[in-house]
Amino acid sequence: MPLPTLLIIGCGSIGERPLRTFLATGRCQAIACDNRPAILAAMAERYRVPTAADWRAALADSGVFAAVVATPAPSHVAIATKILGAKRHCLIEKPLALTLDGMAGLSAAHAASGRAAAIAYVHHFRAEVAAARAFVRAGSFGRVLQASVVSGQDFPFFRPAYREIYYRDRAQGGGAIQDALTHLANLMEWFVGPTAALSCEAGHQALAGVEVEDTVAVTGRTHDGAIVTWSLNQFQAPNETTLQFNAERGSVIVEYHRQRWGRLARGDTDWTWESLPPAERDGPFVAQANAFLDLCAGKPSACATLDEGIQAVRFNLAAFESLRTGRRVEIR
Ligand SMILES: NC(=O)c1ccc[n+]([C@@H]2O[C@H](COP(=O)([O-])OP(=O)(O)OC[C@H]3O[C@@H](n4cnc5c(N)ncnc54)[C@H](O)[C@@H]3O)[C@@H](O)[C@H]2O)c1
Repeated sequence: MPLPTLLIIGCGSIGERPLRTFLATGRCQAIACDNRPAILAAMAERYRVPTAADWRAALADSGVFAAVVATPAPSHVAIATKILGAKRHCLIEKPLALTLDGMAGLSAAHAASGRAAAIAYVHHFRAEVAAARAFVRAGSFGRVLQASVVSGQDFPFFRPAYREIYYRDRAQGGGAIQDALTHLANLMEWFVGPTAALSCEAGHQALAGVEVEDTVAVTGRTHDGAIVTWSLNQFQAPNETTLQFNAERGSVIVEYHRQRWGRLARGDTDWTWESLPPAERDGPFVAQANAFLDLCAGKPSACATLDEGIQAVRFNLAAFESLRTGRRVEIR
């Protein structure tokens, strides 16, 4: 039997990765769609896949069971609403959107579709993160009272073209808040629940050739009462991310840069570490692709939900409002 066909809409710098990693699951075939002919020629040559310039026409193919939206953020909601309206499953790149425009229509299309919708918050699929979250959520240390994430990297090293792409423009999804912090906003909420209110400080500190913020600090409180801080910059030399959760009866820490997580019960003196084998760069993306295919098949999955994606947009909007007004902002 032929494998089901996935449509990848947008094969730019990130869209090529879903194409590559979904093919790596061996569970689907793919059509590469982009409105730039040179990109389509490159995808056809590199991956030997059929291509399409018009996603609407490609979606009408009855063999297409699902689509990935990897176009720039301002177009996500309109495209995803059509995909769900056509009764296809849909995986949407982060951030889901830059405003709440069209969100009610997207939720309604999802509810009426009977199909899966997920947001590509790929940090869920880092092995050390998943293991630590399972431990925290199992509850043996009790309720999380306070949590933090401290994260930074030399962004120009990882995204050398940052000056030329959407990153340079907030209106296209750029800047540290919408492009990078959004992963960590969703991730911390995945551990401790949605943020009820936050305060934000952010600014352009270092990156040459752009004016958007490259440094952010957010302090928030969840609906469950945990106090959470996010600290992120995009210029430091070490590529390091550390999460810490301090609960009633102990603490849990996750260190991306050492592929490990640890726990320390109150009263103990040393961390107990669990180390994971170093992941391939594509590893979490292949895991996310498999999880999305599981979700399409009606199985449980760790993919971020549409509601989480909408909450992450609210988080970004609250961060911008706090920055503008100098006030603490409630997220409704
Ligand atoms: N998950 C991650 O780690 C990660 C990393 C980087 C970017 N992203 C996200 O992925 C999305 C895309 O980012 P990118 O860096 O690949 O951008 P990009 O600009 O390099 O690529 C977008 C592609 O979409 C194509 N496109 C735009 N409109 C289209 C349309 N209507 N039909 C067909 N093709 C169309 C463009 O031609 C381009 O090739 C953004 O939302 C971004 O935030 C996610």
